[in-house]
Amino acid sequence: MTDRTYRIGLIRGDGIGPEVVAEALRVLDVVSAAEGFRLDTTDFDLGAERYLRSSEVLPPSALEEIQILDAVLLGAVGDPRVPPGVLEIGLLLRLRQELDLYVNLRPSRLYEGVPSALATAGPDDLNLTIVRENTEGLYAGKGEVTLSGPHEELATEISMNTTKAVRRITEFAFDLAAREGRSVTMVHKVNVLERAGSLWQRAFREVAAEYPDVPTAYQHVDATALLLVTQPRRFQVIVTDNLFGDILSDLAAGLVGGMGYVGSGNIHPGALSVFEPVHGSAPDIAGTGKANPIGAVISAGLMLAHLGETAGAARVEAAVASVAGKVAGSEVNTRQVGEWLAEAAG
Ligand code: IPM
Ligand code: MG
Repeated sequence: MTDRTYRIGLIRGDGIGPEVVAEALRVLDVVSAAEGFRLDTTDFDLGAERYLRSSEVLPPSALEEIQILDAVLLGAVGDPRVPPGVLEIGLLLRLRQELDLYVNLRPSRLYEGVPSALATAGPDDLNLTIVRENTEGLYAGKGEVTLSGPHEELATEISMNTTKAVRRITEFAFDLAAREGRSVTMVHKVNVLERAGSLWQRAFREVAAEYPDVPTAYQHVDATALLLVTQPRRFQVIVTDNLFGDILSDLAAGLVGGMGYVGSGNIHPGALSVFEPVHGSAPDIAGTGKANPIGAVISAGLMLAHLGETAGAARVEAAVASVAGKVAGSEVNTRQVGEWLAEAAG
């Protein structure tokens, strides 16, 4: 991309989604002007309202329009009027699968002045990134329900693990760690999930051999839950499967101040990727101005890094680091926080 104009799709979505995306765009406006690139945005009418109106979740025409973009910024999907799973599976998980967004990148960093659930933790204790496999595992949608008798059901959910997917996610984690001088911990449950566990271990060993300078470790997922709370400094880059990554990234978010303080990228390196805050649509506070836009702004920063706008990404990160403590110390006002961030990013 030589002219530095990027085609960005916006899926503002439901609940607080539109409010936090508006603040992310406010910050992106300032950063793009300062750094000399352009974002050409297109809104996609997807989410609960679209579904309630037309029963469509992700029509083929929308998917086609999305496929030619450079990146997508997504607010949040989910609405009490829509049955659970319809939007989560039909939109979010479907985008991850259809676009082969095989990395779910989730940094959790404790910013100065933000209180952690760990009373004694400071910024040096918590700065880790979870690299979550985003296309397989128990999220592959494989399994079935069979009836073995009246009122006797058998439901299976099968965890898929291919060498190809495990290798590419592990390579991404090592690449990231090598660039940042960090270690990689593989998290799994190899003592019980022997088949998938040994495939993961083999892939991890093979990739590790190509990065002799990157320190490595292995932890079981249950021990990781404990150690994240008792010794969070042990973790820098964590590579893990889909469901373990889902659970641990919420735990890590809790440790750095809550869902309001984390963002994420659903990434296919070098291709169209989707960036979204880790929080949901929080319908109970929609429209009240209480939503913290920091997660959406961090996600926008990850998007800039993905687009190769490294200086812009650094501006966003520095703005978040300088404003987060002030946000934690006050009653959140979505727009006010967006304005503070935009000012700090200018
Ligand atoms: C997340 C969410 C999603 C997931 C849900 C909404 C399908 O929890 O992004 O972590 O499980 O991946
Ligand atoms: Mg989750």
